[in-house]
Amino acid sequence: MKKLFIILLFFSFTNAMSEEKKSKTETGATIKSNLSASLQNGKAKAQTICSACHGMNGVAASGGNSVIVPNITAQHKDYLIKKLTDYKTGKIQHPQMTVIAGMLSEADIENVSEWYSRIKIRIFDPNLVLSEPSQ
Ligand code: HEC
Repeated sequence: MKKLFIILLFFSFTNAMSEEKKSKTETGATIKSNLSASLQNGKAKAQTICSACHGMNGVAASGGNSVIVPNITAQHKDYLIKKLTDYKTGKIQHPQMTVIAGMLSEADIENVSEWYSRIKIRIFDPNLVLSEPSQ
């Protein structure tokens, strides 16, 4: 029995290690999945509602038919809250976003804004990275 426990413990440990390793190679940072309850809700909302158009990472996935979908990755949290609230209250009217923001509670708006604002990106100066003019 004790042996089995040790084996199980070993497996869960190696699993945790490989998870960590995977995140490290993808992002260059060590990430532990320790999302708070509100951030988990923000992630769930992003996954089920927003990702079709804005992507899980906030980079526009062009799901919104022919309309232009903005990138919202790493945007300031307060900015996202302001925009989503403006859509929800009707201060800004948009065929898609007005409906979508209407589906979100105030807590959802806060949580999903937290999710997208917490994404880290790198900024490159176009002078440094473009060898040809952009189209
Ligand atoms: C069907 C596609 C679609 C979905 C799903 C969607 N959006 Fe949007 N979103 C858009 C489009 C298109 C715009 C541009 C609206 C405009 O021009 O006013 C936009 C604009 C926004 C803006 C304003 C950005 C800015 O800088 O003005 C925010 C913030 C935003 N969306 C957040 C979200 C969040 C959060 C969700 C999920 C809860 C979501 N969107 C789901 C299509 C979508």
